[in-house]
Amino acid sequence: MKATGTSNGKIILMGEHSVVYGEPAVALPFLATSIETTVTKTSGTVTLDCVFYQGALSKAPERLLNLVAVITETAARLNQPLQDFNITIKSTIPPERGMGSSAAVAVATIRALYRFFEEPLSHGVLLELTNISETIAHGNPSGLDAAMTSGQDPLFFIKGQPFVPFPLNLTAYLVVADTGISGQTKEAVNSIADLYKTAPELTHTAIATLGRLAEQAKVAIEGNKPVELGVHMNQAHEQLAFLGVSNRMLDDLVQVAVKTGALGAKLTGGGRGGCMIALTADKETAAAVSSALLDAGAVNTWTYQMGDDKRDD
Ligand code: PMV
Repeated sequence: MKATGTSNGKIILMGEHSVVYGEPAVALPFLATSIETTVTKTSGTVTLDCVFYQGALSKAPERLLNLVAVITETAARLNQPLQDFNITIKSTIPPERGMGSSAAVAVATIRALYRFFEEPLSHGVLLELTNISETIAHGNPSGLDAAMTSGQDPLFFIKGQPFVPFPLNLTAYLVVADTGISGQTKEAVNSIADLYKTAPELTHTAIATLGRLAEQAKVAIEGNKPVELGVHMNQAHEQLAFLGVSNRMLDDLVQVAVKTGALGAKLTGGGRGGCMIALTADKETAAAVSSALLDAGAVNTWTYQMGDDKRDD
């Protein structure tokens, strides 16, 4: 007897970090990457099989603490003892790259466990359980990653508010580039919280500016104005760098993208590593930007036609 659950990665177009403080964000599902969790009946202690660890759940390493918590809490919700099953996780979402891998693992695993025990799962309970994992991962989650990795619609997202699907019908291409450096979402989120204490006014201004830029991005997308969206992306990157959540490699890749003809570029996700995104007017420029980013040290790139949820290359 076995059951599977799936989920997908996500890309934040605008609004990372400021979304934690109640500002809006625009994000899209990253359907080129996915996670599949399989729960299989065994006998005895619960076992885990993933890229980081194979063995008893009770002996899983510290870095899997959030996953262990999600499995334990989900079994408790289902009134099932922690025994007689194995969990196997297969992922194509690069971990710690700002693509929501930790939330996506939780979403796929919760879905698989509910299917395995043949219980219906509401979206509300799925989000609640996923946010247990996200709280352990970085303390103060906005809920954006849980929302994006459990759904397939782009969203205009505000913490604690009902989800608003937001079609990205824009004549433009998005290039995503992986720096190859592990992102540090927890450290970055904590560092902004610290900055709020030491420099409240400056921090508040930057966060509010990021929120305003997300609103302006929404208007630019609705009006199919990619040039304006690009400008807002550049401005958002400046604010994020000011808040200390960029790094040298991200700044370099953003510059390379803009010099190669991108309309705008910025880091995406928690920052201090992970990924950056660049917006281009056409497919040819997207190809040139992608190749320039790889030349500049990016370890991988993905190119999308906006409004098309399928990978373009
Ligand atoms: O780095 P990721 O994929 O976990 O994205 C985090 C997004 C933040 O806005 C930095 C945090 C949050 O909870 O929204």
